[in-house]
Amino acid sequence: MSKNMKKSCLKIGFLGSGKMAEALIAAIIQGKKAQSQDIMCSDVVEERVKLMESRWKVQITSDNQEVIKFSDIIFLSFKPQNFPEALEGMGDLVRPDQVIVSIMAGVRIERIRRILPGKVIRVMPNTACLVNDMAGALAGGDDVAPEEMEMVIGLLECAGVVVTVREEELDAVTGLSGSGPAFVAYLIESFIAAGVEEGLDQDVARNLTLKTFAGTARLLSQWNMAPEDLIKMVSSPNGTTVAGRKILESSDVSEIIKKTVRRAAERSRELG
Ligand SMILES: NC(=O)c1ccc[n+]([C@@H]2O[C@H](COP(=O)([O-])OP(=O)(O)OC[C@H]3O[C@@H](n4cnc5c(N)ncnc54)[C@H](OP(=O)(O)O)[C@@H]3O)[C@@H](O)[C@H]2O)c1
Repeated sequence: MSKNMKKSCLKIGFLGSGKMAEALIAAIIQGKKAQSQDIMCSDVVEERVKLMESRWKVQITSDNQEVIKFSDIIFLSFKPQNFPEALEGMGDLVRPDQVIVSIMAGVRIERIRRILPGKVIRVMPNTACLVNDMAGALAGGDDVAPEEMEMVIGLLECAGVVVTVREEELDAVTGLSGSGPAFVAYLIESFIAAGVEEGLDQDVARNLTLKTFAGTARLLSQWNMAPEDLIKMVSSPNGTTVAGRKILESSDVSEIIKKTVRRAAERSRELG
């Protein structure tokens, strides 16, 4: 761990103060990993930083250079389309003790290092970060020390689950958990519509569907259960579940889901 990281008050900076940055800042403060005054964020939109100041009491600036100078850990939390312009001429400011954490989808470590020649960790969060229930993954460059990875994992875990992968695997992560909330929301929409077609009110169908998805995930997780064991557990011979499964399992739903995730992962590779 670098000397700076051993300091009791780690300084954390965010370049870009949008939805994801705010969710991470909130989680880090609420998780007591840093105090408001040890966080600085910038944005090109003045109202955004003012909002961050009033909500989270963090330090704010419109100058990305100021954030780089201030921080031990620098989050790149603007959109990939703002890269590399957002960092123009800032390469010389990077110190060897700093760690750069990019949450930009699809921008490779090597590309970031060409602009900011420092230690880079890439993170693929997902939108459930907004409710502290992220499924995320991260990959570090070769020069990132294990203690620095641990430090960043500790920050991210305030917002949910984060697993360590190789950088090449981040495209698959993007297809599965990065884009996953949209695919799951589509399935949820279909379940609600099916409930409504069976005569339920929209609100009733929505509540029951949401709880069914969340409860099933929780059961699988808490009991460390394989999905096929849960399927067996609720399938009484000649019962309702078995009748429904006959339709589901004779369809190509499973293949379509594989194709969906594969296409999203491919698209991530194309964009990278
Ligand atoms: N949202 C997700 O579910 C999700 C999932 C995985 C990864 N990510 C990644 O997370 C990052 C942030 O996403 P988000 O949804 O939080 O985006 P967002 O809400 O649009 O926030 C990005 C902010 O950065 C600002 N910005 C633009 N150029 C800048 C510059 N030069 N310097 C400083 N700030 C600048 C933007 O201003 P303008 O609006 O004026 O451009 C905006 O306020 C993206 O790179 C995205 O790929 C997001």
